[in-house]
Amino acid sequence: MFNNTSILITGGTGSFGKKFSEMILDQYDPKRIVIYSRDEFKQDVMKKDFSVRFPDKVNKLRFFIGDVRDLDRLKRALNGIDYVIHAAAMKQVPACEYNPLEAIKTNINGAQNVIDASLDLGVKKVVALSTDKAVNPINLYGGTKLVSDKLFIAANAYSGDSGTVFSVVRYGNVAGSRGSVIPFFENLINDGARSLPITDFRMTRFWITLEEGVNLVFKALDESKGGETYISKISSFYITDLAKAMLPESELKEVGIREGEKIDEVMVSKDDSRTTYEYDKHYIIYPSFEWWNFTKHFTKGGLKIEDGFEYNSGTNKEWLSVEMLKEKLEELGFK
Ligand SMILES: NC(=O)c1ccc[n+]([C@@H]2O[C@H](COP(=O)([O-])OP(=O)(O)OC[C@H]3O[C@@H](n4cnc5c(N)ncnc54)[C@H](OP(=O)(O)O)[C@@H]3O)[C@@H](O)[C@H]2O)c1
Repeated sequence: MFNNTSILITGGTGSFGKKFSEMILDQYDPKRIVIYSRDEFKQDVMKKDFSVRFPDKVNKLRFFIGDVRDLDRLKRALNGIDYVIHAAAMKQVPACEYNPLEAIKTNINGAQNVIDASLDLGVKKVVALSTDKAVNPINLYGGTKLVSDKLFIAANAYSGDSGTVFSVVRYGNVAGSRGSVIPFFENLINDGARSLPITDFRMTRFWITLEEGVNLVFKALDESKGGETYISKISSFYITDLAKAMLPESELKEVGIREGEKIDEVMVSKDDSRTTYEYDKHYIIYPSFEWWNFTKHFTKGGLKIEDGFEYNSGTNKEWLSVEMLKEKLEELGFK
């Protein structure tokens, strides 16, 4: 579906953007992929890496320096673009807490700029990335991403019948991503640690890989009709089991929950369950707006989930055991 199309990724040099570009170039023959981000160094590193891995296709990549806070620059970059993936964000919880207005400028004003530029330039579809932290948020990062989600869903009201389609893809901590628990434990193990710190022994998380996240974005770009929030069905695990998988003889040490951290992750809240449908491999939360029309906007094949359902890593039906976690870690390249 991406052959001969032009795609722009805000935050294209980040973990998601690189994986997305790699999978597009592997599977399709796009006209161009525009990488939109601020830091020239990260762009240069990405360009060099892709010229080794995709020597015949690296010329499809275009590197635009730009900030999502800059509407004029976004409009320039979006000229002739069919699909936009909005991945740029401030996403470190402590940085957002300490610099609240900066988080608002990037995550909220930036989101509105992406919407306005996409509407004005006639982009076909826009998918914005969301996080579990946007569900019942307890920190500013989650709060700004909740507002961003709302802006993207509401934007469908402005696009008219044949206009831009906006949807959201929500996922949780990506296994092995920068700053997450797996590289944290790995560094401690490499430094010779005999025990691993666990903030709370009850803590559970969902396991999602970048590849699964990208595949869900492909699905959203393919199927969305406007207003959906897509959520993958994935397995849960206990952080204590992850520690046992990474350092079997580890002594576990409970060090206390950190500010802004939750015991379990929630992807679909009880209140959202009223408009959530279950599909084979994912859930879709639909909006409750006058413009939303079942015949036009509903994707066939979904079954309404029961009211009061919560998609929560602590009450999930699918779980990864210590052995299964070991296999997953090996697949990710962690030894
Ligand atoms: N990683 C996870 O575990 C996770 C989980 C759930 C949801 N998400 C969501 O997924 C998205 C992508 O995350 P990621 O892991 O790929 O993040 P990442 O690796 O930190 O990359 C962030 C990207 O955004 C760019 N960026 C930051 N501020 C910008 C701005 N003001 N204007 C333009 N570009 C900007 C960065 O490049 P420059 O600094 O050069 O601008 C970089 O390319 C985010 O929206 C995040 O909320 C991530």
